Amino acid sequence: MLIRYPFKFETYGAVKLYDVTRTVSLYGVDFEKRFGAFSLTSENLIRIAESTAVVVPVKDEDPLVLEGVLRAVPLHSPLIVVSNSSTKPLDVYSNEVDIAKNIYQLSGRSIIVIHQKDPLIAELLKSEAPDLIDESEGLVRDGKGEGLLIGTLVAEGINSRYVGYIDSDIYIPGAVLEYSLIYYTALAMSKSPYKMVRISWGFKGWYGEEFLLRRWGRVSGVVSSVLNSVLSRGRKFETDIIKTSNSGEHAMSMELAKILGFASRYAVETYELVHLLETCYLGLREGSCRALPNTVDILQVESRNPHLHAQKGELHVLEMLVESLGIIYHSKLADQHLKNTILRILKEFSYEEEPPKPGTYRYPQINTKKFLDELLSRSEISVAHGF
Ligand code: GDD
Repeated sequence: MLIRYPFKFETYGAVKLYDVTRTVSLYGVDFEKRFGAFSLTSENLIRIAESTAVVVPVKDEDPLVLEGVLRAVPLHSPLIVVSNSSTKPLDVYSNEVDIAKNIYQLSGRSIIVIHQKDPLIAELLKSEAPDLIDESEGLVRDGKGEGLLIGTLVAEGINSRYVGYIDSDIYIPGAVLEYSLIYYTALAMSKSPYKMVRISWGFKGWYGEEFLLRRWGRVSGVVSSVLNSVLSRGRKFETDIIKTSNSGEHAMSMELAKILGFASRYAVETYELVHLLETCYLGLREGSCRALPNTVDILQVESRNPHLHAQKGELHVLEMLVESLGIIYHSKLADQHLKNTILRILKEFSYEEEPPKPGTYRYPQINTKKFLDELLSRSEISVAHGF
């Protein structure tokens, strides 16, 4: 893959936000014939792929779509499926375990499948991450953010240098391959140990009566503009640098994951940016930025394949919007002016209340290797192949 170097960046404290750049060509290794674009050597590509664990969260998706996603992630990257799918009345989860086993038998690739509600996960995390556990159930809470946090612990447990996330409801396997290649290439473009790459979908679409590939998702367009208005007002220079407030597809170095806050459910991606701006921009002088003296590099790369994923209805879009705006509303970034803006936006979507504050989690300070060893040796439902 050949990726154009970003034209510009803006810094907010130690947060270095790169403007969206593009893939010049989808496949190209050992190919750097022009200045201005970057590609990996074949040796580096494999080395980075091997050290990037790809976490796939799944909750009751079409098994055929999940299988397409899993088959599209390059074989060198360890795969970690974190499922919150039903086990009864129909055992959707066992189907997912079988898909993973089949892929392992055919390819020999490393793949771990864990269930978010595996009682052992709650048992092993309850003292270090009590907020993650739902008191009534005694199990890890529902939510995509919760799934990504557990997946990241597993990625650290297998000693990965990088962790990438890819949703399981993506209909085009070629898009998944492209996201993986973007992760490997863009992560190598930054020299900071604290780095992240966020995919900005070139075109996004849903199946339905009308076929239209849109430039903007409905949630990310709104939430990105709110984050940009925070930056614009803080600095007195208007900016539109953030394009990926809700990028489900993103990857980062393990160093960054370990200093990052994770948020519940669909607030997770927005909170990564909010937390970094709280600690490494606003909180810089109070010493709350653990990345110093390094910058935290955020790269945004526009993909070529259309992002086609499952359409889950208007209520689902509203739920994601309320959670993402809620995490900004209740953050240190929000003054009264911003809160009023958020309330006005929500009103336009017929949501008349103050958005609730989503739960947040710090990265648990546990021995992740021991956590994973215990989980895999004692669990009755979580499995690993090829380790
Ligand atoms: N492990 C786990 N646990 N996975 C979950 C859970 C959960 O409780 N809930 C949802 N998922 C999985 C889904 O199966 C899917 O693969 C992925 O998380 C994203 O969830 P969706 O419900 O399909 O979200 P979406 O596709 O509508 O929205 C995506 O794009 C948004 C931006 O437009 C997500 O990536 C959002 O996080 C993102 O903000």
